[in-house]
Amino acid sequence: MEIKKIGVLGAGTMGAGIAQVCAQSGYQVILVDIEQAIIDKALKTINKAWGKAVEKGKLTEDAVQKMQSLITTGTDPKDFADCNIVIEAIVENMEIKKKVFAQLGEICRPEAILATNTSALSITEIAVASKRAAQVVGMHFFNPVPVMKLVEIIPGVETSQETVDIVTDLSIKIGKEPVPAQETPGFIVNRLLLPYINEAAHLLQEGVPAEQIDKAMMLGANMPMGPLALADLVGLDVCLNICEYFWKEFGDSKYRPALILRNKVRAGHLGRKTGKGIYDYTKSL
Ligand code: CAA
Ligand code: NAD
Repeated sequence: MEIKKIGVLGAGTMGAGIAQVCAQSGYQVILVDIEQAIIDKALKTINKAWGKAVEKGKLTEDAVQKMQSLITTGTDPKDFADCNIVIEAIVENMEIKKKVFAQLGEICRPEAILATNTSALSITEIAVASKRAAQVVGMHFFNPVPVMKLVEIIPGVETSQETVDIVTDLSIKIGKEPVPAQETPGFIVNRLLLPYINEAAHLLQEGVPAEQIDKAMMLGANMPMGPLALADLVGLDVCLNICEYFWKEFGDSKYRPALILRNKVRAGHLGRKTGKGIYDYTKSL
């Protein structure tokens, strides 16, 4: 099957980036979220990135106009009816993802592929809900999507080889490097990264200042950013959900999320996307 039109469900941190890179590679994209205001914010982010690229001489105004014309938007998943693939990037919650995949299974063309950008959850459990499990696959992008090269490709128990081949090929066509991963909680990167972020949150709780933790990891371990700044970039809600899932799946208290993560999420301090997280971004907004 040739991919011509890509649906992206969820216009948050990841959905906006996924829509951007797909349009940059010449694909028609329909970006859907529950509220127009969220979609408007995503389009603003995408246009800002393209504006910067024009300023740097990396893109022409003409190219930007062409890419802008490739992205349409909507608030109804029925708009995905003519897509060859839908990439889901909504909240990291199994029950909500299962409901959405059941709906997508009914709306989308019989041959369409349904990919999930889940950070950690079981692909098989999501796939079964769609009633087309052979065409469901994990397609895990990294944040910020326009910059990070990796896409983890994760088949569920019933995913067909054809589905894996199509999303692997699509990942290459949108400028990414696909790496196969197995259906284990958090796959490869997050299985290693989230315990590190969580441990940094525990250290913070034990009284070590955030700036000190981040500076130490940047200077002493050559990280491009410290673990707490990274947690804010990812979203503290996303970090908490992944840690909770590890704890539940492995039954090992070493994965127990730091209380500070839970309390920040309770307060609505989710990181960069809400202006406050471990750090305060309100002055730079
Ligand atoms: N969107 C688009 N482009 C961005 C961007 C964004 N949010 N942030 C930075 N960039 C671009 C800049 O425009 C710049 O591009 P040019 O080279 O063309 O000028 C380039 O990236 C470098 O940016 P900066 O010089 O501003 O900043 P930097 O060198 O400090 O890089 C960073 C910023 C790429 C975010 C870097 O700090 C980094 O790599 N951080 C770690 C990110 C990471 O680990 N991501 C994975 C998170 S885990 C995950 O995603 C999985 C999950 O399921 C939770
Ligand atoms: P986000 O909170 O920034 O955005 C989620 C978006 O989904 C919101 O705009 C919300 O309105 C929308 N949404 C929620 N329910 C919906 C529904 N039923 N229909 C349509 N839209 C709905 O989240 P995010 O950080 O973009 O994460 C999205 C997914 O990508 C999650 O599964 C997350 O684990 C995964 N992920 C996140 C990162 C990251 O660094 N943030 C990296 C890789 C993967």
